Amino acid sequence: MCGIFGYTGKKEAQPLVIQGLKQLEYRGYDSSGIAMQNGSNAIRVVKTYGKIKNLEEILNKQPLKGTTAVGHTRWATHGTPSKENAHPHLDKENQIAVVHNGIIENYFDLKKTLQEEGVRFRSETDTEVIVHLVAKYYKGNLENAVRRALRDVHGTYAIAVITSAEPGKIVAAKLDSPLVIGKGENENYVASDVSAILEYTNQVIYLENGEVVTLMRDSCEITNLAGKPISRQPVKINWDVTQAKKGGFPHYMLKEIFEQPGILTAILKERVRGYEIHFDELKIPAAALKKVKRIVIIACGTAYHAGLVGKYIFEEFTDIPVWVDTSSEFRYRDPKVGPDTLVIAISQSGETADTLAGVREAKRKKALTLTICNVLGSSLSREAKGVIYTHAGPEIAVASTKAYTAQLAVLYLLGLYLSQNFKTMKESARRELLKEFLHVPQLMRSFLDEYKRDEKNWEKNAHDFNVRYHEQLDKYYSADPDKRKRAPNGFFLYLGRNINYPNAIEGALKLKEISYIPAEGYPSGEMKHGPIALIDENPWVICIAPESKTYDKMISNIQEIKARSGYIVPIVTEGNEDIQRLNPAYVIEIPRVSEIFSPLLTVLPLQLLAYCVANEFGEDIDQPRNLAKSVTVE
Ligand code: AGP
Ligand code: GLU
Repeated sequence: MCGIFGYTGKKEAQPLVIQGLKQLEYRGYDSSGIAMQNGSNAIRVVKTYGKIKNLEEILNKQPLKGTTAVGHTRWATHGTPSKENAHPHLDKENQIAVVHNGIIENYFDLKKTLQEEGVRFRSETDTEVIVHLVAKYYKGNLENAVRRALRDVHGTYAIAVITSAEPGKIVAAKLDSPLVIGKGENENYVASDVSAILEYTNQVIYLENGEVVTLMRDSCEITNLAGKPISRQPVKINWDVTQAKKGGFPHYMLKEIFEQPGILTAILKERVRGYEIHFDELKIPAAALKKVKRIVIIACGTAYHAGLVGKYIFEEFTDIPVWVDTSSEFRYRDPKVGPDTLVIAISQSGETADTLAGVREAKRKKALTLTICNVLGSSLSREAKGVIYTHAGPEIAVASTKAYTAQLAVLYLLGLYLSQNFKTMKESARRELLKEFLHVPQLMRSFLDEYKRDEKNWEKNAHDFNVRYHEQLDKYYSADPDKRKRAPNGFFLYLGRNINYPNAIEGALKLKEISYIPAEGYPSGEMKHGPIALIDENPWVICIAPESKTYDKMISNIQEIKARSGYIVPIVTEGNEDIQRLNPAYVIEIPRVSEIFSPLLTVLPLQLLAYCVANEFGEDIDQPRNLAKSVTVE
């Protein structure tokens, strides 16, 4: 995602656009730019690589004069971060400028057609096709040209467009990327979210999908894509800027948890066409993949847990053996990889030192390397032979949530892509799996909607934990040696089996890193090999027990824990009557889904449990102590 800001009114637009982009910098910050109408017959554009302060430095030396402008701070998805790929993008006459948030899925075909019509592209981005389409259809009315251009476009967009031929006008449009209008006194604003507008007006209109707005300083006309007028009244926003940046959520982490269904929907929309899976940026030919005899996945932290799920996925969908290793172990182990090995490095930031070193070691041993990464132009995306982007947008909270499920989504798609490649699955079975996968974001959304309805109960359970935890601590610090001997195991144990075992470790990590409470994830079958000695009435035992081929085994493990006064919180498939006979402390239900896709559902309560407990303990959820968002040191 990136940040868009536009202004038209009586004031000088430049300072307003810069200030607006600064408010939106959290949405993307690899490059930025501004386009200004200044009465001449050409649009003036200034853009640069890097943070907005780089743009500001240039403009301080050569300010742009004018009262209508659009600006953009980028989170690259197509075309590495660079000045040429920064927005705004101009048509060939420099008379139309566009800024865009989203992905134009059919840009490749559109670009090819436009090039055949004589258009010379200046950038590698998908966005640039929009401005050339608008120019192609421009006949003196910008909104008509924009509406016609968007009829050719498939994908997601929030765009703002200006032309030197129509002073004072901004045309904006929205489909599956956010865009709001700010209505001022004889001035109007357009932005990716209200945080950029709030200091000027709290009267906003949230554009809906398929709407096109034409802004002048004293007018705001909305239509649908066919040009039919739509009447929309502004709403009054009472958030402050900080709340607005978090979309009204109290923390970025909770906002990012709730972004997950939309991100997976966008990933599937971009990657799945019919029953075909496309990784346009992969850069590894199918023939090279066909020579792969084994897969080694390397990563750190949450990305490593995604890799562990990936093992189950690839071994389910293909016949290829898969190893998973933490990058820090892989790089120093003299790993036996070679030309027959595909080393997949998973990393949200693309800058994790150990994972980068692991890829270099794999390349040194002539293995084929592929990274699943969230940041375009990151070191990993440049050093691995192939790359698949997760397009989860900037993940601000240190505790990774949306990047994790986006990594899983890419791993599922890659597994289905490889199964097609290696013909290791009947096409009808592959299509059935793909059909069910396309429905998973909706199931995730329904779980999160249920959480919203039941939020108070989650907070109450987190409070109960807090009370129980402190009762145990009182025991621990009591004067009575006998009580002290019963040192509280006031911690969490997460148990899971098979493809849900990695989520047991992920759930424990989420809790540890934001609440600082000891927590451990374990394969449930391992309990009787030692960890069950920890069980008494104290620890919380989170049991991931959805409908699965190992459900009965999971129930036996839960019974073993109950027999030792364990305090169990099972995560089960909705409608599970059976679990109540185990008298759980409380039960979390997830929507019904095939076991293979269940990690995308079972991880949601684990993320929310960690969030609620850390919130109950008043911890700094988005910036936990001792941690950094990207570990670029060993
Ligand atoms: C996850 O919540 C942590 N922030 C951390 O474990 C993280 O997953 C790890 O440092 C890997 O980061 P990367 O995905 O950017 O490589
Ligand atoms: N897809 C466009 C690009 O890569 C916009 C990216 C975004 O929304 O941040 O430039």
